[in-house]
Amino acid sequence: MTKLERIPPVITIDGPGGAGKGTISYLLASRLKWHLLDSGALYRVLALAAEQQSIANTDVSALERLAGGLNVSFQPDEGALGARVLLKGVDISQAIRTETCGNLASQVAAIPRVREALLQRQRAFRKQPGLVADGRDMGTVVFEDAPLKIFLTASAEERAKRRHNQLKDKGFDVSLRALFDDIQKRDERDASRSASPLIPASDAIQLDSTDLSIEKVFDRVMVEARKRALA
Ligand code: DC
Repeated sequence: MTKLERIPPVITIDGPGGAGKGTISYLLASRLKWHLLDSGALYRVLALAAEQQSIANTDVSALERLAGGLNVSFQPDEGALGARVLLKGVDISQAIRTETCGNLASQVAAIPRVREALLQRQRAFRKQPGLVADGRDMGTVVFEDAPLKIFLTASAEERAKRRHNQLKDKGFDVSLRALFDDIQKRDERDASRSASPLIPASDAIQLDSTDLSIEKVFDRVMVEARKRALA
């Protein structure tokens, strides 16, 4: 076996919020029995920790320090389709899922030094037998050498509807219109920033999930994984 063959494989799932990345990544990691990285959760935890410590999103040095020393851990949580997220041992899984936290996360994520500070932490998730990495720049920056890169999209209208249903299920009451406006604003910020903007990697497979069920998207990804002998 060569040295390269021993590097754990990675499947990257990038795309805008609400396209179904989280669900697909979770299903894929469960099926393959691979590790899972929810990189968006890291940016959300950072945003929450900054808010708790009253660090302004213009204070780049403080944010960079906070990102470097972030005391965050992920615990498998089958019931919640993902992981329980702990900050200094306190369960903040719910608190990081609000729209406010998502928007703050998108703001801190636009700062290059913050992204740099989180880079090694994300790469450390790459372990045997493999990793499914969910985010915006998994295939373009963090795991550039991944053997399978998926860029999952859906129309903004559809994503707003999905987010609305998700939040309703969790007991949050948010207007559909407000969500749609938020999604457009967040897309614009994530795609236009200079550091690791939200764009498909040149070797990514693009999937539009607007009219596809989760099962169909999952099947398409599995076909690609099998073609590469990953599944
Ligand atoms: O995927 P999410 O909605 O949980 O991500 C929250 C924000 O974090 C998103 O608006 C942009 C940022 N993010 C990022 O910049 N890079 C990633 N790899 C993941 C998320």
